[in-house]
This record gives sequence, C-alpha cells and structure tokens, in this order.
Amino acid sequence: MKPGVVCWQSPSNIALIKYWGKYGNQLPQNPSLSLTLKNALTKMKVSYSFSGSGKLQTELLFEGKESPLFHKKVNSFLTSIFTYFPFLNQLKIRIETENTFPHSAGIASSASSMSALALCLCSIENDLFESLKIKEDFYKKASFIARLGSGSASRSVYGGMVLWGRHEGFSASSNEFAIPFREKIHPNFEFLNDAILIVNESVKKVSSSQGHALMQDHPYAKSRFKQAKASLTRILGAIRSGNTMDFMEIVENEALSLHAMMMTSKMSFILMDPDTIHIIDKIRFFRKENKVDICFTLDAGPNVHLIYPKKDRHQVKEFIENDLIASHQIKKWIDDCSGNGPIKLMV
Ligand code: PMV
Repeated sequence: MKPGVVCWQSPSNIALIKYWGKYGNQLPQNPSLSLTLKNALTKMKVSYSFSGSGKLQTELLFEGKESPLFHKKVNSFLTSIFTYFPFLNQLKIRIETENTFPHSAGIASSASSMSALALCLCSIENDLFESLKIKEDFYKKASFIARLGSGSASRSVYGGMVLWGRHEGFSASSNEFAIPFREKIHPNFEFLNDAILIVNESVKKVSSSQGHALMQDHPYAKSRFKQAKASLTRILGAIRSGNTMDFMEIVENEALSLHAMMMTSKMSFILMDPDTIHIIDKIRFFRKENKVDICFTLDAGPNVHLIYPKKDRHQVKEFIENDLIASHQIKKWIDDCSGNGPIKLMV
C-alpha cells in the first residue's frame, strides 16, 4: 500500500435553531438549522501509511505542538468508528491540525475540527478503495461521521444554511446526517454576516456534553423540543418569504431558550456574563434607533454572534468599534460571514 496525505479545511457553524438534547448515539432530540461560517476554520492534514499492526497508531500535533488531551479525544473517537472505517487499525496516522481563530477566543472548535477529521477519513477511504467516488455519498458519510464526533459538526460539511435532524418538510432530512438547505432563500438572507463578539475567552464552565445530558430529565424538555420544531418550520417560512422581523425574533428566541434550558436544569448553570446581557440590550436599542436588521444569537457560552445583512457592514462595524469595544464590553471580535463549506486542499 502506498502512503498518502489528505488535507481539508473545514469551517465552524452557528446554529440559528439550536440542537440541545440528544438520545442514542449522538442523535438529536430536535432538528436544527445553521449557517456555515467562512473564516473560523480548522485546517487538517492527515498522513497515513501501512502498519499492518491491527491496532490504532496515531500521532497528533495541534498548532505544531503535542496536545495530549485532544490526542486522547481523537483516539477514542477513532476507536469508536472502526465499524465505519475498518482499515484504520492497519494504518499509521499522523494528524496535523490548526485553527484560524485564536485558541482562547471561546469559540467551540469541535464543529470545525470534527468535520475536518471526518472529511479527511472519507478522503483516505476513497484514496484506498474508491468507495466514495459519488460526491453525495462522500459528504453524507462525512456528515454522519462528523456527527458521531460532535453533533453540530455534522452541519459543517456543507456551506450556506444546513439542516440536521428529521423534519416533515424535508423527505431527505435525517437525524443521522445533515443536509444542505438549498431551497429558495430570499435575497434578504443570501449574504449574512456574523460578527463574533468575544466577551470572555475562558474555557466553558460546563461542557455541551453535560448540557445535553441535563436535558434528559429536564422539566421543560418536551416543550423545548416541540418549540424548536415549530421554530424551524417558522424560520424556514421567513427565509423563503424574506420576513426579516420573523427571522430575527426566532433567532433571538432560540438563543435565549437555549440558555433558559441551562438555567432551569436540575444542575442549574449560567453561561452568559453580565456583559452578554448589556450587549443584548445595546443590540436591541441599536436595531430600533438605526432600523438595521441586526439580531443576536448565542452558543453555549457568553460570546455574542451578531447576525446581519452584508450591506450593513459599515454601520455595524462602527457600532462594534465605537460602542462595544470603546466601552470595554468586548475585547475583540471576529469578522465572519456565511461561507461555502469545506475545501479539499492540495498537498
Ligand atoms: O455539537 P455539540 O455537542 O457541541 O452541541 C452544540 C450545541 C450548541 O452549539 C449549543 C447548539 C448547536 O446547535 O450548535
């Protein structure tokens, strides 16, 4: 067997309709919808050669350095997916990975890194066996595998808006993998920007795995899953018709519902900082005063994502710099926008 190298860059994504709560092997309790980003990326290179040892042999460098914690996570993930890549334990694998966004920015890197890894593994399979020559099959498997690493990563293998989870309106939708949402998208939502406002750079107090687990006996779980499904149906209607008011209301409601679940779970936790709330107030005031279609969303953390049309970039940039940065509510921000999805890089 000839040794080989594969290389992918894969983006992070921001959920508009949130996935929070799972069952079985990383299956979502409700469907979610996300926007794939352009600049917050993981670049991953995987070199492989035949070992014939019958056991997993890996090396991992994160940003040029060994990272024992991440290496352990990757190894246990690779071991858990032997069924789907039975050849893995016959290979010697070297993974070199880096992110374009700062390590300490408080941005979850699991979506971009797990999708990059899944894409690399599918490319290795295809190089060795030519079994994923059909583009649709390739991405479907990549999304399926990425999901097993981190649920939200399943959505990062496609560009634009992406749907993960079974939804009646889409016969191709599935809990097992994501699908691109390439239906009619109103021009109002064709070019969306995402300004990621870094409120706090520290590592999250509670991991998303713990958060998902707390949904299992959450008193509001049933209503939350129902609400997310209804929000998805409504937002898809808004995206098709161009109803920005509805779009913004749903996006903000989803973010706050996610955090409401955290606050009201058996083990209550709050991931927002006081400045997160101040910023939300300021965004709502700015929207009212300036008539700009700007809304916020939150991940499982204190940082705020500002979603707005590309055409308003100048005005929003002024707001961020002259108000939020000047008042020290944020230290820095990442200027991102919707992107076209992962790219296979030449090696
Ligand atoms: O992919 P996970 O297990 O890290 O969960 C992600 C959960 C949220 O980011 C809060 C919501 C989402 O849909 O991305």
